[in-house]
Amino acid sequence: MCGIVGAIARDNCVPFLIDGLKRLEYRGYDSAGLAIAQPDTHAIERARSVGRVAELEQQAGSLRARLGIAHTRWATHGVPSERNAHPHMSEGNGFTVTVVHNGIIENHDEMRRDLQASGYVFHSDTDTEVIAHLVHRHMSGGLSLLQSVQTASGQLHGAFAIALIASNTPDTLVAARKGAPLLVGIGQGEWFIASDASALITQTREMVYLEESDVICLQPTGLSVYDRKGQAAQRKSVISQLSADSVELGPYQHYMQKEIFEQSGAIAATLEMVSNASAISPQLFGAEAADVLPKVQQILILACGTSYHAASVARYWLESVAGIQTTVEIASEYRYRDSVCLPGTLVITISQSGETADTLAALEHSKTLGVEYTLSICNVPESALIRASKLKFLTRAGPEIGVASTKAFTTQLAALFTLTLVMAKLRQRLPAEHEAELLTELRHLPAAVSKVLECEPEVKQWAQRFADKHHSLFLGRGVHYPIAMEGALKLKEISYIHAEAYAAGELKHGPLALVDADMPVVAVAPNDTLIEKLKSNLQEVSARGGELFVFADRDTKMQSAPGVHVMKLLDHAGLLSPILHVIPLQLLSYHVALVKGTDVDKPRNLAKSVTVE
Ligand code: F6R
Repeated sequence: MCGIVGAIARDNCVPFLIDGLKRLEYRGYDSAGLAIAQPDTHAIERARSVGRVAELEQQAGSLRARLGIAHTRWATHGVPSERNAHPHMSEGNGFTVTVVHNGIIENHDEMRRDLQASGYVFHSDTDTEVIAHLVHRHMSGGLSLLQSVQTASGQLHGAFAIALIASNTPDTLVAARKGAPLLVGIGQGEWFIASDASALITQTREMVYLEESDVICLQPTGLSVYDRKGQAAQRKSVISQLSADSVELGPYQHYMQKEIFEQSGAIAATLEMVSNASAISPQLFGAEAADVLPKVQQILILACGTSYHAASVARYWLESVAGIQTTVEIASEYRYRDSVCLPGTLVITISQSGETADTLAALEHSKTLGVEYTLSICNVPESALIRASKLKFLTRAGPEIGVASTKAFTTQLAALFTLTLVMAKLRQRLPAEHEAELLTELRHLPAAVSKVLECEPEVKQWAQRFADKHHSLFLGRGVHYPIAMEGALKLKEISYIHAEAYAAGELKHGPLALVDADMPVVAVAPNDTLIEKLKSNLQEVSARGGELFVFADRDTKMQSAPGVHVMKLLDHAGLLSPILHVIPLQLLSYHVALVKGTDVDKPRNLAKSVTVE
């Protein structure tokens, strides 16, 4: 959730620290801070501010040093305030230890009591401060900064990435990771660390992805890596494929807008292997898939938020096309539930970031129940989720910076549809003719996405009508019900308008009581077998004075009327329809947020990559 960066630069590291934080700001943005070490005076200088990195930049503009660490925060322990902003310090015995931290220290209460008993005084409400004092105590006992961090890492429970500097070793930066990502960027005689590759890309493309429980020591002479046993280890560097452009805004006003409009290209990239093939094959899901997928008896999909909505769409596809029993569960519920796992279950985890704590824990929980077959669908190749699964499918959406997920969702759907075809074929439910037809439809999908995006001007007009509303309903049926859920999530998270999604048939079982002229009702209305049922549900809304906003297929026989606004999209796209129908809903939430003037890319209280429970 938070972002960390650090550097030993050839000259001044502060511009990199600030630029890195700006690039990581989407991971957390309630406060920010940095600390640098001065070798001449053996002093640590620190700047912290509440709010955005731009505020910190003002404060830290005059600071200069070769060595430093920095942090952008998303509050977990303690309110957003300067005293809770990182870096946190521990001072005494003539030296100062400073730390930045991403993640959660689960045993911080117990450690805090222990450290207080040794005379340490706490100045913040954070779990992070225990790390500074713990390392300080080890150093006071005669250990080096590296040895102290190695010892402390073993004592700290939870998932974290940390970076530390100390005033008495002003040429050394020590960092460690356990359950949270951390990378080293290798420059020309300079080294950088970050929790996310996007912060490093302007400095270097050569990066080392640290392994679980690694501790590293950076000095002007180079990088040393130590594994979980404290042994010196070698880690291969990779040349990142990320381009500086992919994390720039370009001509767009917001990342969310850019990412909505990138969907055609993102889907094309994700489906490249599928589109170029003359037939569907299990190998699209990894080398072992040809052996594993034929043995699968049923599927359980685990995910959170938008990724959970992708899973919910896939359930309809997998059951109706592949005829395989599929259940979908919110990862944070599954991980704490006593559940039964039948032999032959394929557990699929879906995640944009591949670092979502609940999804990772749910996957591990399923393994403890005896699950052998696991598949992850993820957008980040080096993520923990990808490493934890037997089979994998990488969506190739490119970095998603806007907190509200858009292109990650549609590429997840493209991946899940591909899986549906693979499973259908393995189960002899996909005759060659039908396979060829569906492959052709998939190849045309990016063009259809571009076409749907042309509805933006009309959506923009509709958005005006939502700006003064406080509540809204989203309706859908069948495979489009999860699309209504996704539309409601998008609207609430970036415009702060309360939005509820219902399967349209449920309306009369309760929510209809809410409908009045102040409650806009958005309907997803594809021209599928349920359209007549949906129309009856919409009549129920009109009859109660509700104002309807209907996203219909072009071939739907629905017309605008007083209180009923109908927007015609494309002709019905069959099985791929949900992928197209979510796009106007993304645009609607984006434009409503613009009208309301909310912070589209960094909505309040949220953060990208939910690496804490
Ligand atoms: C909503 C959104 C979140 C994420 C959720 C899971 O727009 O982005 O609901 O979908 O936090 O994140 P990932 O997919 O990274 O596991």
